[in-house]
Amino acid sequence: MHAQPTAPVPPPGCPAHDAGGRVPLYGPEFAADPQAYYAYLRHFGPTAPVEIAPGVDATLVTDYATALQLLQDSGSFRKDARRWRDLNEGRISPDNPVVPMLAYRPNCMFSDGAEHLRLRQAVTDSMARVDTRRLAQSTEQISNYLIAQFGSRGSADLLGDYAKQLPLFVFNELFGCPAEVGDRVLFGTTGLFDGVNAEKAAEVLFGAVGELVALKRARPGDDVTSWLMQHQARLTDEEMVHQLALLLGAGTEPLRNLIGNTLHRLLTHDVYAHKGGLIDEALDDTLWENPPMQNFAPHYPAADMEFAGQHVQAGELMLVGLTAANTGPTLMAARQAGSNRAHLAWSAGPHACPSKDPARQITVTAVENLLNQLPDVELAVPEDSLVWRPGPFHRGLNTLPARFTPVETARRPVSQARTEAAEPGHGDNRRERTGKWSQFLNWLTK
Ligand code: HEM
Repeated sequence: MHAQPTAPVPPPGCPAHDAGGRVPLYGPEFAADPQAYYAYLRHFGPTAPVEIAPGVDATLVTDYATALQLLQDSGSFRKDARRWRDLNEGRISPDNPVVPMLAYRPNCMFSDGAEHLRLRQAVTDSMARVDTRRLAQSTEQISNYLIAQFGSRGSADLLGDYAKQLPLFVFNELFGCPAEVGDRVLFGTTGLFDGVNAEKAAEVLFGAVGELVALKRARPGDDVTSWLMQHQARLTDEEMVHQLALLLGAGTEPLRNLIGNTLHRLLTHDVYAHKGGLIDEALDDTLWENPPMQNFAPHYPAADMEFAGQHVQAGELMLVGLTAANTGPTLMAARQAGSNRAHLAWSAGPHACPSKDPARQITVTAVENLLNQLPDVELAVPEDSLVWRPGPFHRGLNTLPARFTPVETARRPVSQARTEAAEPGHGDNRRERTGKWSQFLNWLTK
C-alpha cells in the first residue's frame, strides 16, 4: 500500500517536523494518510509519543503483541480515567475537545475489576437477549425507509443520508424509544458527534435518556432498556442513564463508520465485484485495514514501570493504535496465513467490544439491502476527492457521494404493522410528531 520510509522521517506536511518529537494525530494531514503516520511511528519501537489534541500527550502502542500485552493486563493498566494525571494536575483544560471521549463516567468503559464485571455483565446479558431475526428485520425496514427518502433522486450521500442515520434509528428501535423521546435521542447523539452545539446536544441527550429510564421503570417493554433495568446487577437510575448513553455513543458512531467504510471499500475496489459473499469479505477487510476506531482503548498505568522497553508513569494516558497494530508486519503475516479475525478492530481483553455480533449483523444487513435496492450504485466523485474526518480516535468519511438508477419507492415494510414504540399509550402521541424518528414511525404505520 504505502512505502515504508527507510529512516524516521515524518510524513510530508506532518507538523512533527516542527514539534520536537511528539507526533500529532489530529488535523487534516493525519486524516488524509494515517498509514504514512503509522509507518513513521513504528520507527520509535512498539510505542510512540503522540499528541491527540493540542497540548494532550499520549503514548500510542503500535505493535500488535505489545497491544495485546497491555489490553490483557488489567492489573497493570487501568481504565478508570480518574487516574489521568495530566487532567488531574490541570495540564489539560476540561473543555479540551478530547476530554468528553476520555473523562470518567460511571459506566463499564471506565471501570475496573468487580465494578467493571457487574456493569459489563448487565450490558452483555441484555444485548444477548436481542432477537437476531427481529434485529435484521428492523434494520431492513429502517434501510428501506432511508432509501425511500433519496431513491428517486438517483444520487445520495451514502454517509449523511444513510450510514449516519441508520444506526441511530436502529438504536431507537432496540431501546424501545417512543417517538418524541427518540427524536431527542437522535438530535442529541447527532449533535454530540458532529460537535455542533455539543453542550446543548448533551443536555438534550441526557434529558431524553433520563426520561426513557423513567418511562421504562413505569412501563417495561420488550427492549434493551427494560432488560438492562431488570438485570440482577440492579443498576441505579444514574447508572442506567450512563450505561444507555455509553451504548448509544459506543454503538452508533463506530457503526456509522463501519457501514460507511465498508461501502467505501466496495465502491472503490473492483476485486469484490465478481465474488459471492462479497459483503462479508469487504467487511472483514475493512475491520483489518480501515476500522472505525483507529486509536482508542485508553488505559492508565497503575504504577511507574518499564513497559516494552520504555519507562511509563502511573496515570499517563496510553492508547492502542488498533489500525497500526492490524496493519503492522507481524499481523499481516498471520492474516495471510488464514487467521482472518485476529485483528484488533473490536479491541481485546476484558474491555473488548461486547457487541460485535449485533454490530456485524446490522452492518451486513444495511450494506446488503442497499446493494439489493440500488444494484448499479457507484461512486459519483473521484476517489481521491473524498475527505476523511479529522480526529485521533475515529476513522470515517465526511461524505460518500454516489449515483444509481433512480428507484421509485423502496420496498414497504414486510409485516410488522405497528412497532411498540408507535403504539398509543406510550406517552408521546399527544405531542406533535415532527422529528425524524416520528416520521419513520408514521411511515411504518401508514
Ligand atoms: C451494536 C453496536 C455496538 C455497541 C452496543 C457497542 C458497545 C460497546 C461497549 C458497551 C463497550 C465498552 C465495553 C467495556 O468497557 O467493557 C465497547 C467497547 C468497544 N467497542 Fe463497541 N459497540 C458497538 C459497535 C462497535 C463497532 C462497530 C466497533 C468497531 C468495529 C466497536 C469497537 C469497540 C472498541 C474498539 C471497544 C473498546 C473500547 C475501549 O477499550 O475503550 N464497537 N463497545
